[in-house]
Amino acid sequence: EIGKIADREGVNAYIVGGFVRDLIIGRENFDIDIVVEGDATEFAKVVGRELGAKVHTFSRFKTATLVFKDGTRIDMASARTEVYKFPGALPEVDIAPLKKDLFRRDFTINTLSVKINYSDFGKLIDFFGGLKDIKDKKIRVLHSLSFVEDPTRILRALRFSVRYRFELGKHTEKLLKMAVEKKLFKTVEGQRIYHELKQILLEDNPLRVFLRLEKYRLIEELFPGLRWNREKKDTFERVRKLIIWHRINFPERKTDYHLVYLGALFFKEPLERVKSYLSSLSFPEKEGKKLLKFLDEIYGTYRALKSSNLPSEVYKTLRGREEEFLLLLAALFPDVEEKVVNFMRDWRFVEPLVSGKDIKELGLKPGPAFKEILNRIKYEIIDGRVSREDREEQYSRL
Ligand code: CTP
Repeated sequence: EIGKIADREGVNAYIVGGFVRDLIIGRENFDIDIVVEGDATEFAKVVGRELGAKVHTFSRFKTATLVFKDGTRIDMASARTEVYKFPGALPEVDIAPLKKDLFRRDFTINTLSVKINYSDFGKLIDFFGGLKDIKDKKIRVLHSLSFVEDPTRILRALRFSVRYRFELGKHTEKLLKMAVEKKLFKTVEGQRIYHELKQILLEDNPLRVFLRLEKYRLIEELFPGLRWNREKKDTFERVRKLIIWHRINFPERKTDYHLVYLGALFFKEPLERVKSYLSSLSFPEKEGKKLLKFLDEIYGTYRALKSSNLPSEVYKTLRGREEEFLLLLAALFPDVEEKVVNFMRDWRFVEPLVSGKDIKELGLKPGPAFKEILNRIKYEIIDGRVSREDREEQYSRL
């Protein structure tokens, strides 16, 4: 449909980047990016009007986002149309705007595009050999200055290489090493590094990416003085397993899994040092605060858990805690993992079958004692002194 509109409006439109890459590799990807040779904002408005999607335009960047009724989002950007060097100069017609746009990107595998104009629908466009590099399983930059122009691409290269199990191209690896030696990260806004770090921690296996960061001496670059040892690697592995378990069992709970990894990374580091990492990487304030609180409280919680013998004691220690905190706790301290997992899976959901109303009917006056009674019943159930069935029986007799 969009293709027909493009034909009619006289613009060329292409799906570009990650979506095409993942389509060929066979990985799910729901982020559709469209590049328009022409004005993307104008085009997006027409598409939005005709297909009934909401349109948000950013005129400064000539980009737009379409949000369809089913939640699908499509980003549109304008390929820079030819710049006239001086009034009346001939445009550089030999290079298509799309090609110029793609040339600014990071790796060949991200430069594939598919034309969606109705007349040419589905035509794969591969200016820079991206298809061959996918076949060869190689990450390659488009030109020698790629990492210098944008050092966060160093992190992206390692992230993609782990995700797809691709190797770095020989020349690309050399350039990456040179960029690391020049300590180019120092020149990058912390916020952008934070963003890439978060992307790494949201990958399926961040430990593998971190092992590559280690290989290229980037851990020291990103976190001066941080200890990155066997213990932390083991914790990363445990975090990964717990997250997999959590995703399956609690898919509806919004959880910032990257925070669990960050907690594991910074555990046992001096607080002042952690604070300096947070500020040099411009962590979002809320997230930084949460993380510091976790690190501050987790050992105490562990001690309390260790001496909790009854499930109800575990319950009292852990109730109301954040998902990320609980996962971190289980990952850092294997000897209390079972308690934490039982709490997350069962104990936290126990509700007394007796309600406040029932107690009132027994002739008790409302007040704090009330809550206390209900809590006690809850603890009894959690501890298994009263089975649910017993409770139900008593309840029916009441
Ligand atoms: N890009 C780039 N340099 C960067 C970041 C992004 O050149 N530092 C380009 C890439 O070519 C990429 C596009 O911008 O294809 C969009 O980037 P992103 O939104 O990160 O998407 P994906 O490449 O799809 O990555 P992911 O699969 O992790 O979302």
